[in-house]
Amino acid sequence: MYENLIKLQTDALAELTAVADAEALEAWRVRYLSRKGGALGEAVKTLSTLPREERPAYGQAANEVKAVVEAAFAARQEALRAAALEAELTGSAIDVTLPGRAPSLGHLHITTQALRQLYAIFAEMGFQVYDAPDVETDDYNFGLLNIPPYHPARDMWDTFWVSQDATPDPGQRALLLRTHTSPGQIRVMRERCPEPIRVVLPGKCYRYEQISVRSEHQFYQMEGLAVGKNIRLTDLIGTLHEFAHKLYGGTGKLRVRGSYFPFTEPSIEADVECVLCRGKGCAVCKYTGWLEVAGAGMVHPVVLRNGGYDPDVYSGFAFGFGVERPSMLKYSIHDIRYYYGNDLRFLGQFG
Ligand code: DAH
Repeated sequence: MYENLIKLQTDALAELTAVADAEALEAWRVRYLSRKGGALGEAVKTLSTLPREERPAYGQAANEVKAVVEAAFAARQEALRAAALEAELTGSAIDVTLPGRAPSLGHLHITTQALRQLYAIFAEMGFQVYDAPDVETDDYNFGLLNIPPYHPARDMWDTFWVSQDATPDPGQRALLLRTHTSPGQIRVMRERCPEPIRVVLPGKCYRYEQISVRSEHQFYQMEGLAVGKNIRLTDLIGTLHEFAHKLYGGTGKLRVRGSYFPFTEPSIEADVECVLCRGKGCAVCKYTGWLEVAGAGMVHPVVLRNGGYDPDVYSGFAFGFGVERPSMLKYSIHDIRYYYGNDLRFLGQFG
């Protein structure tokens, strides 16, 4: 045998066993089997330098080495391919026994839930839902509700003004974000007059306030309005009683205090017995035993007239309350800023 051929075969096979990936295999192939400059090709070329009678034996030996080396290459290539396939199959295998990942579903906002509960409570008492605009005129928000310009009661509502055109009649043109849902009262009356009315008006209200744990510059209110013949204060108290009882449950004891609002006469505030301590006194009711439910009263004759109703023939009651408060009590939410802060860690708790 020829020594150079033996060495070539030994080296090639030894190196091949160390080849671990396709890249190394390709480098090995170029080194030994490449037509141009491959070690095997070079060895065959030396044939021409041998004496004529040695050439057939050398040629045969070279062919044998070539066959061995090529077969080893094919085997290695196949082994690497099989290993790669195996790794892919086992590496990214799907474990079908794993529990699925539940897609996170959205749900209604806590305020929307509260509003719907309120619609249901009032629907049982025959109240329809009426929508009024968020952007109002000064007149609707104040003037027509018996709060003329420069009336000191305007101090009760810090206002976001949208525009304040200098026109001959500033009350007509000045636009604002409604500070309460009460302007809707005038809109329903003007639309329905002289029909009797029984509506609730839900909506977002805006106040130019310092934001704190207790006050946001936007929040929801719900207004109630009933207009007809022979509507009395006892009808109002009965309605508020039924509402508080359905919303808060418990004994449903209601207390009424005299108050003042420019658009009602007389005006009252209604409290329900504290649902947490049942009237004994606790931190939530500030040790009074009572929770404030709503501001209310008999619709002021001026307001009735502004709505188109003759106050000598018709009477009515109205009430208004904040929508977030009941859910704050129910879930012990101590900070109103969570409601519209859009933090899903908060909102997601009320699905
Ligand atoms: N609009 C009042 C407020 O924002 C609440 C209110 C009080 C509404 C008495 C009424 C009412 O309809 O009669 O503070």
